[in-house]
Amino acid sequence: MSELGQSGQGQEESKISSYEGEQYLPYAELGQGEDFDIFGSVVVTNEDGTKEWKSYYGNQAVTKRLFTDPILAQADIQEDSQVVLVDFGGGDGIMLEQVNDQLSQKGLNVEPILLDMDEKKLEQAKQNRPNIRPIVGDLAKMPLLENSVDIGISRMAMQYLPRPFDRTEPLPKWLPVNYAIVRKQFEKDGYINQYDVLKEMYRVVKPDHTLVLVWPGAYKYATEEEKKRSDNISFFWNRITAAKELSQPHGRLMDEDFVSLERWFTAGEEMAQFAQKAGFDVEDGGEVDWIEYRITAKSVQNRFDPKGTWSDNIRQYIEEDFETADSKYQRGEGLDIIKWHDKNAVRLPISRLVLRKPKLTNNE
Ligand SMILES: C[S@@+](CC[C@H](N)C(=O)[O-])C[C@H]1O[C@@H](n2cnc3c(N)ncnc32)[C@H](O)[C@@H]1O
Repeated sequence: MSELGQSGQGQEESKISSYEGEQYLPYAELGQGEDFDIFGSVVVTNEDGTKEWKSYYGNQAVTKRLFTDPILAQADIQEDSQVVLVDFGGGDGIMLEQVNDQLSQKGLNVEPILLDMDEKKLEQAKQNRPNIRPIVGDLAKMPLLENSVDIGISRMAMQYLPRPFDRTEPLPKWLPVNYAIVRKQFEKDGYINQYDVLKEMYRVVKPDHTLVLVWPGAYKYATEEEKKRSDNISFFWNRITAAKELSQPHGRLMDEDFVSLERWFTAGEEMAQFAQKAGFDVEDGGEVDWIEYRITAKSVQNRFDPKGTWSDNIRQYIEEDFETADSKYQRGEGLDIIKWHDKNAVRLPISRLVLRKPKLTNNE
């Protein structure tokens, strides 16, 4: 057994509400993603330059390239060495299982731990992937011991935490309507942000060990002026999720709970600064140039309304969002809307950091 432990916070954490509603397809059921109307599809550029559709969540080769390869490149791992592999915000465990399999095939003896605040997803993981150990916990306050994790991985979780920003500055006028609610939430929960989570990851990862962090990046297509705005919020996603959750034709965030639906797309360079400030060495990082997420209105409906229960006006509302998105909703997010097969699609860059907690020096 590893030296990893639970501090008993699990019970308390379990009261945190799930970040999404229940009427959506789990990642494991999204299909293989070879179609732009399947949510979670990515365009991957192969080594020979050809481009292919792949499933971001389900495709083993994508996971290998994004996670397992950099882990193996970093690690001085010996065959049969025992490694505690923790997926931070790992959801239903689909990726943890893949990385676990891939590392195990290399001869490592892996203890895979799935940490997430969403108990329903952990329950799914327990049923479908019995070799994985689920732990309920908040990324900001993990029930894990200091220096207990050999390899950390995390995919698409950082964007649920806000970027740090100076709240004393005047608010930019383009901020979304729900900003007051966001601020209230920050004041209530102590304003936990992406930097705080990186500090927490730093605490639990062993010295001289690796963390691979992947999240939806931003700003790749933004103007220089837009890149300077580090306090913007993904209004675009708010509207989709709020419309869905509230079942209203003109969804707005009306309840504090929905604050957790915010997405904060942070540029690779900026996240690297947070990571360094938290204590990590940045081994590699930035927007990944061989993969691009694409989302259409239909793919949103296919995932979030798989049973077809949305009313026509909600469906129409989402479609209109994509139609008008380029002018109305980019707002410095760096979201890029392209016309594509007669549809509008959002291109979302994927960012990755390969981080290493430095060796402790003698006086530490
Ligand atoms: C988009 S899902 C990605 C799941 C998984 N990493 C994957 O790529 O398949 C984001 C996950 O992050 C989790 N999450 C978000 N904020 C969290 C927090 N503060 N603490 C723990 N988990 C969190 C959510 O519960 C959710 O399962």
